This record gives sequence, C-alpha cells and structure tokens, in this order.
Amino acid sequence: MEQFEHNGKKELKKIKKKIRRLGWFPSYQSFSELGIKGRRNDGLRYKYLDFSLCKDKVVADYGCNLGQTSVKAAQAGAKNVIGMDSQEDTISTAIQIRKLLKINTVDYQIIDFNDYDFDIKIRELFKVETPDISFFLSVYRTKELKDRDGLFKFIIEYTKEIIFFEGHSTRSIDTIEYYTELFSKHQLNADFLGYCQKDTRPLFLIKLSK
Ligand SMILES: C[S@@+](CC[C@H](N)C(=O)[O-])C[C@H]1O[C@@H](n2cnc3c(N)ncnc32)[C@H](O)[C@@H]1O
Repeated sequence: MEQFEHNGKKELKKIKKKIRRLGWFPSYQSFSELGIKGRRNDGLRYKYLDFSLCKDKVVADYGCNLGQTSVKAAQAGAKNVIGMDSQEDTISTAIQIRKLLKINTVDYQIIDFNDYDFDIKIRELFKVETPDISFFLSVYRTKELKDRDGLFKFIIEYTKEIIFFEGHSTRSIDTIEYYTELFSKHQLNADFLGYCQKDTRPLFLIKLSK
C-alpha cells in the first residue's frame, strides 16, 4: 500500500510536469481529482452539469483536453466514455491520468475535427454503440476549427439524447442571443444552465427529440 502511495505520488508529479509542457492549452482547465489548478476554475461548470444523466449511457467528449469531463462522466456511472482531441501530448497525458485514477470505462483517441474524414473516424470509434450524450464544451468557437458548423451538425445527428454545450468567453460574441440564434438555425431546443466563468461561457443543455 505504501509502495502504491509512493508510486502514485511520483506519477502525479510526472503528470503535472507534462501538463506544464503541453503544446496547446497547458494549464487550461483545473482538474480537481488531481488537485491541479488551471487558468479556468471548474467549480461553476460542475455545479450546473448534471452528471447523473450519464449513468449507464454511452458518452462522447468532443475536444476532451485532459479528460476533466470524461472522468466526471465515468465517475457518475457512464457505461462507456470516449474523449477525442487532436493533440497527441494531451491525449497521452489524459491516458496517464485515467490510469492513475484507475478509471477503466474511459477511452481517449486522437481525432482532428479538421480532417476531411473526421466523421468516418468517429463512427469507427463508436462501432458498438453510438453516443447517448455528447459534451461539446468550449470548442465550437475555437478559431482554428475549419468547419465548426459541419462538426456541430455531425454531433447533433450522431447524438441520441443530450448535448451539453458550452460557449467561449468573448463578451461581445458569446452571448445567450448568439447561441440561441445558432441553436434555432439547427432547429434545437436548448436550456440555458448558467455561466461557467463569471458572466461568460454560457452552458446549455440541448435535448434532442429523435
Ligand atoms: C478550449 S479547450 C476545451 C477543452 C474541454 N472541452 C473543456 O472545456 O475543458 C479546446 C479543446 O479542443 C481541442 N481542439 C481544438 N481544435 C481541435 C480539432 N481540430 N480537433 C480536435 N480537437 C480540437 C483542443 O486541443 C482543446 O483540448
């Protein structure tokens, strides 16, 4: 047991060091399970997100970063979670974290949403069962995304029940009105759950009627 504790602490130290060196989004989001504080505090987001909805569900986490949300979904009893991100170093760190936390219902995969065949690659990952619930948090307005609406359309079509959607943080753009218009363009009904960062990063629950 002592040996395990020792090894766990050593591994956590290695992970923290690796996170500081990530090529994209280092120290972005806090990771409370590891006691890691990022630039973003996850407290408000997790106050509004009802992870109990994930129980026994297949979950997709688009732009999963280090797996902060994927881990929460797994801990809430999701049957299977797949987190996807384009960054190799981010995904390999997410895998290390999952192992340290002894979570075995989460899988992480490198997927670049800018690839012309990203949809085919995602369908391959969910060959057995398609996602009931999708998390699409703070990704839609990532400026490097080539076709954000194509990606969002795919997520809408491919998710069976619920999409949790979080916007970005530019006050003049990421307003409730901006996202209400976006959702109505896609004929979606969305409930506003709250702001995840002061009065920005609006979080929505989209119930799909299929
Ligand atoms: C602002 S972070 C949000 C992370 C996470 N969803 C969260 O809210 O905590 C955006 C994430 O999307 C990923 N991402 C950006 N462009 C991507 C792309 N083209 N394909 C896949 N992932 C991408 C980034 O690597 C990063 O982890």
